[in-house]
Amino acid sequence: MKYQETKKVLNQLVADLNQMITVVHQTHWYMRGRGFMKLHPLMDKFMDDLNEQMDVISERLIAIDGAPFSTLREFADNTKIPDEKGRWDRTMDERLEILVKDYRYLADLYQKGIDVSDKEGDASSNDIFTGFKTDTEKRIWMLQAELGKAPEIDA
Ligand SMILES: [Fe+2]
Repeated sequence: MKYQETKKVLNQLVADLNQMITVVHQTHWYMRGRGFMKLHPLMDKFMDDLNEQMDVISERLIAIDGAPFSTLREFADNTKIPDEKGRWDRTMDERLEILVKDYRYLADLYQKGIDVSDKEGDASSNDIFTGFKTDTEKRIWMLQAELGKAPEIDA
């Protein structure tokens, strides 16, 4: 069987992207403070992009004879992105910092996917990982800019 390590990263991303969609949805609902009018709808855009990535990743996994996680329980059991019960006392900056941390985790996982798919010769998955890593780093840049910070992608 080819692409075993690539498949593992693809399925890890299925669990993590589903979790990330939930984390962003919580941010969309629970945020309070300056910037709400702009950031609340922006979270819809983030969720749309994550959902698109999750679907492409899942379908690539199926195309190479894998089986994506497809239940809430599987996502919860396998994700490495933490969550917390919804709370109203987080500042807007704290919420954005949580998103930056989680997007950095995803960027690192996409990099792992780039490395293993390169090693295993799966150029198509490699192309998908590369594109989504670029998109994820753009999100990190924008969130960091909102926080008044440099992207620190290469820090
Ligand atoms: Fe909404």
